[in-house]
Amino acid sequence: GEAELDARIVAAKETLGDRLVILGHFYQRDEVVKHADFVGDSFQLANAALTKPDAAAIVFCGVHFMAETADILSRSDQSVILPNLAAGCSMADMADIDSVTDCWEQLEELFGTEPDDDGRQPVIPVTYMNSSAALKAFCGEHGGIVCTSSNAATVLEWAFERGQRVLFFPDQHLGRNTAKAMGVPLEQMPMWNPRKVLGGSSEQELLDSRVILWHGFCSVHKRFTVNQIEKARAEFPGVRVIVHPECPMPVVDAADEAGSTDYIRKAIAAAPDGTTFAVGTEINMVNRLAAEFPQHTIFCLDPVICPCSTMYRIHPGYLAWVLEGLVAGEVRNRITVDRDVATHARVALERMLAAKP
Ligand code: 13P
Ligand code: SF4
Repeated sequence: GEAELDARIVAAKETLGDRLVILGHFYQRDEVVKHADFVGDSFQLANAALTKPDAAAIVFCGVHFMAETADILSRSDQSVILPNLAAGCSMADMADIDSVTDCWEQLEELFGTEPDDDGRQPVIPVTYMNSSAALKAFCGEHGGIVCTSSNAATVLEWAFERGQRVLFFPDQHLGRNTAKAMGVPLEQMPMWNPRKVLGGSSEQELLDSRVILWHGFCSVHKRFTVNQIEKARAEFPGVRVIVHPECPMPVVDAADEAGSTDYIRKAIAAAPDGTTFAVGTEINMVNRLAAEFPQHTIFCLDPVICPCSTMYRIHPGYLAWVLEGLVAGEVRNRITVDRDVATHARVALERMLAAKP
């Protein structure tokens, strides 16, 4: 039962002390979050991996790409552990290195490789954090950068300074919503479908483009609709609608605000007592916010429970199992990124960490 698992986790944590750090993403279930030393969004967790230098083991309660990132940014004598190796991300899986390389070659053929008079490259690749280490390495090698949902505008700014256009993957929605807010017209944001020649666009459309959007999406956030927002507004006049930028553009446009998981949390924390919030993000996080801020009314825009099914694969039973492994001197479920890949990926991640608004 839960109490027994709790006791096992607490006992192992006590034995391991400073040799261990447990990181938890906001979308993790409560039974896992309560054991985390640090809970945050993707950006904060990437930094958190660096802040406990004594820890020999970083147990990452999140999904595979996050654990990979922690491995890339941590020292080689630290091991990163993903309690359940089946915790992936369907969005990250929508862009693979072969199709991105193929896309890149087609773009190079069209645009050439020479910078313009202002020294800007024809294309800067930008990958969302929610991607494999191989894609981060691709960006590192091709003058590109990583972004998260909390710094996407800053990163796009960085990329526009260095490039005539951006190839953004895997999340079309984060790319579109961010670029649109920065004033890029929709006509200049063709979508790249890897199953079609030139991604399905004409040469002219690509030549005129500012942001080429990969066709990926998050299966959790694509569920939110404008209809749900209209309903919430009708039922709760004055409701503040706040959504994640992985939601489709019409949803972000109809909401009052959009931002990363940490942005959402901070906006709720700063609101005057008695505010009503309709939130468009993962249900475990929304429910936790509702419990944490009882002075507000907080509910999820989608009445049908919508957890991220892969985040949910981190069950406290797996957490207990990897921690007890560490106590016994055994590193279970270690995530290691190939050295070469890690070296290039670190370049793209460090560009992100250094990019300032
Ligand atoms: P953030 O934590 O950056 O808001 O990302 C949300 C998400 O979908 C993580 O998988
Ligand atoms: Fe991937 Fe979406 Fe789950 Fe985040 S919420 S891990 S983007 S499927």
